[in-house]
Amino acid sequence: MADTVHVTATADGPYMIAGRVELRWPSGHVISQEGEADGSGAIYLCRCGHSQNKPFCDNSHKRVGFKSTEGDATAHREP
Ligand code: FES
Repeated sequence: MADTVHVTATADGPYMIAGRVELRWPSGHVISQEGEADGSGAIYLCRCGHSQNKPFCDNSHKRVGFKSTEGDATAHREP
């Protein structure tokens, strides 16, 4: 059985994906993750809609002042 993949909605930023995943375009083609992982192996997917490197985050969320909205992970709805 595969290890659990963790997806974390970061505060006012991207989704952090920790664990091995395969990303695909609607066409089914695999999206290269080369050069996208940080030192821990995590990748970051844009959720602000402004990245010029979609689906990956390019830190544009900082430039546009993206704010998480109430009801998402930053609302601390943890049990
Ligand atoms: S979340 Fe970082 S560029 Fe969109």
